Amino acid sequence: MASIETISKRLSWLPKPVARYFEKKMKNVGSVQQMIQKESDKVEATLEHTLKPYRGRYDSYPTIPKQGIDREKILADMQQMHDDEIGTWEGGYVSGGIYNGNKDHIDFLNKVYALQSQSNPLHTDIFPSATKFEAEIVSMVAGMMNSANTPDGAQVCGAVSSGGTESILLAMKSYRDRAYEQGITAPEMILCDTAHTAFDKASHYFGIKQVRIPMRADYGIDVEAARRAINRNTIVMVGSAPTFPHGIIDDIPALSEIARQAGIGFHTDSCLGGFITPFAEKLGYKVPVIDFRLPGVTSMSVDTHKYGYAAKGTSVVLFRSPELRHYMYYTATEWPGGLYMSPTIAGSRPGALSAACWAAMLSMGEEGYLKATKAILDTADWIRSELKSIPELEIMGDPLWIFAIKSRDESLNIYEVLDQMGKKRWSLNGLHKPSCFHIALTLRHTQPGVKERFIFDLKESVAYVKANPGNKEGLAPVYGLAATLPFRGVVTDILKKYLDVVYKV
Ligand SMILES: Cc1ncc(COP(=O)(O)O)c(C=O)c1O
Repeated sequence: MASIETISKRLSWLPKPVARYFEKKMKNVGSVQQMIQKESDKVEATLEHTLKPYRGRYDSYPTIPKQGIDREKILADMQQMHDDEIGTWEGGYVSGGIYNGNKDHIDFLNKVYALQSQSNPLHTDIFPSATKFEAEIVSMVAGMMNSANTPDGAQVCGAVSSGGTESILLAMKSYRDRAYEQGITAPEMILCDTAHTAFDKASHYFGIKQVRIPMRADYGIDVEAARRAINRNTIVMVGSAPTFPHGIIDDIPALSEIARQAGIGFHTDSCLGGFITPFAEKLGYKVPVIDFRLPGVTSMSVDTHKYGYAAKGTSVVLFRSPELRHYMYYTATEWPGGLYMSPTIAGSRPGALSAACWAAMLSMGEEGYLKATKAILDTADWIRSELKSIPELEIMGDPLWIFAIKSRDESLNIYEVLDQMGKKRWSLNGLHKPSCFHIALTLRHTQPGVKERFIFDLKESVAYVKANPGNKEGLAPVYGLAATLPFRGVVTDILKKYLDVVYKV
């Protein structure tokens, strides 16, 4: 937590009229400084309570136990934690997170994991099975993204990574390294405000300047603004299919064509939608083309561990050509440890996760994915139409199955509604800029009674907040604060504090 001195220092940088404005605005808590301290204290106090519910309930192990603990006890404790945690997600109260969650599916993946728990794809000689699984995962995902239907006969290829963020990091690193070779020393990427923060991480890690384009009123990227942002340092443009916050599919055909004409890369981030949009298209939903059928799309990220229904820990990054993929690879020829090469960021990797991903895709098959997508989109259609019966709320833009919900009028604080939903066990995502929350529908929400419960609870929550506005409890004041604080450094400090608490025993 930033000390009060640090906060004061930050405040002192503010131009006086701005500081005075905020002081006046917050006069009910004395001053901006006091308000920040008060909220920071509140956040800190609730963090430990929220993040460490098992303190006192289970033995704690800050050091390696002198003698090994009995396996039965270890398993019994773990079973208890599992039983405590499953209730929230199994019953369909969670936005995204657990995308399949059916017991028979999980049992099957666990069997596969048990068979392959020792596998490490780094050791291609010991585990040729891992090599087979990963090559086929990439090929299947490339096929799903129309690698066989490119106008230029492109040799689409890729790699298995640990998740969407790593796939994005790898793609951005590849563009950067190619740009360095071309003599571009200050590379830039163009993307919408709404593009996933993994691109921000890539910018941070790899020194690529981000040119963020503000979203339009329909929450998609402003294509003309993206065109205007291109300069001689631009190496890649990004489109989301769909965006995490609002579930909106950017105009990928227009953007990728602009990128192609400018001779720069174009990345479709399909981490969230990669296993929905191809099947939605087959089911007859109106979905724009987002994949390698477009000549300008040069890379994609597609998460197997979301709607691909693999266990957590895999994603696929695809490239339009083997030449581009080469910029992702790492090789070392002079190390005393031997000749070394690895395709992605990690060295040793959990082969069991690739095995489980491969097995999940085989067992689902196209038919299984079509059925799952239909169930999710049917649920989405029902929820979209039922939400119309709550006049205080509004879906943002025109999404397919991820609904960002805001309040139609400022008198209803949407974060207080979110808090009320939390009290009814719902774990939805609070978003900001603008204030809203979202629900990403998964197979958990297609279970009988879940969608009805969502609408029922939402109606009750809205009614409660209307009758009891201005609740100071819960997370609503924190969301409000995080959204409106001009001193982003303070918010950063709170986020870092959060991570510190995560690692406290
Ligand atoms: C659009 C989009 N891109 C990237 C990611 C990052 O994926 P991961 O959390 O697997 O790193 C997400 C995660 O939700 C996403 O929605």
